[in-house]
Amino acid sequence: AGHELRTPLSALLMQVQSLARSAKVVDPRLKDRLEKAAAAGARLEKLISQILDVSRLNAGRLALDRERMHLDAVVREVMDRFADLATESRCPILLRLEPVEGVWDRVRLEQVITNLVGNAIKYGKGKPVEVETLLDGSDAVLRVVDHGIGIAPEDHKRIFDRFERARGTREYGGFGLGLWISRSIVEAIGGVITVRSTPGEGSTFTVTLPLRAKEADAAKQS
Ligand SMILES: Nc1ncnc2c1ncn2[C@@H]1O[C@H](COP(=O)(O)OP(=O)(O)O)[C@@H](O)[C@H]1O
Ligand SMILES: [Mg+2]
Repeated sequence: AGHELRTPLSALLMQVQSLARSAKVVDPRLKDRLEKAAAAGARLEKLISQILDVSRLNAGRLALDRERMHLDAVVREVMDRFADLATESRCPILLRLEPVEGVWDRVRLEQVITNLVGNAIKYGKGKPVEVETLLDGSDAVLRVVDHGIGIAPEDHKRIFDRFERARGTREYGGFGLGLWISRSIVEAIGGVITVRSTPGEGSTFTVTLPLRAKEADAAKQS
């Protein structure tokens, strides 16, 4: 179970963070090292939560929690959480959000938006990132556009697979799980995720969702 991995790690992280705060007064160098330890712990925490998602998805246990919501409102909430990172990366974020209402899984949708926007900022070279929502016939569309490093055509398909990363991105941290998780979620809802990209010019990720998440397969219900 997930909490058996997460609980001790959160406890460890809290202790290290608290030590870093105490050390601040006594010994600044110790504080730096404790902060590095805390940062490594935070990366490990992220990897664990992604691996837990992967194992859940592999087991076909993605039970959707359906509720009515506004896609544009969900995007706005996720973007509030990105405010600090966007400022830190000096990355302007432009929102073009048309109201789109539908029945999806809020937490899972937040995860997809978080992954795509996180990538757009990470690989976006500080250039503006655009996030759009719109209604296209009987589909909701979410689009995340960046003007960063881009992706070579031969990698467009591969990056949606597990632990796959495009060539030339080794200097950026990451495990190659975010897009696989995102694709699994989008497909569980009955949607499609695609990429259009030109190396050196940027990338556009488009998620198309039916207005009502499809019912889970009987076999997949928990
Ligand atoms: N917006 C983007 N611009 C350029 N490359 C991207 C972008 N999003 C994803 N990629 C490429 O796809 C790979 C897989 O993405 P993802 O599954 O989110 O893993 P990671 O943890 O490496 O970000 C990344 O390692 C990167 O090579
Ligand atoms: Mg990622």
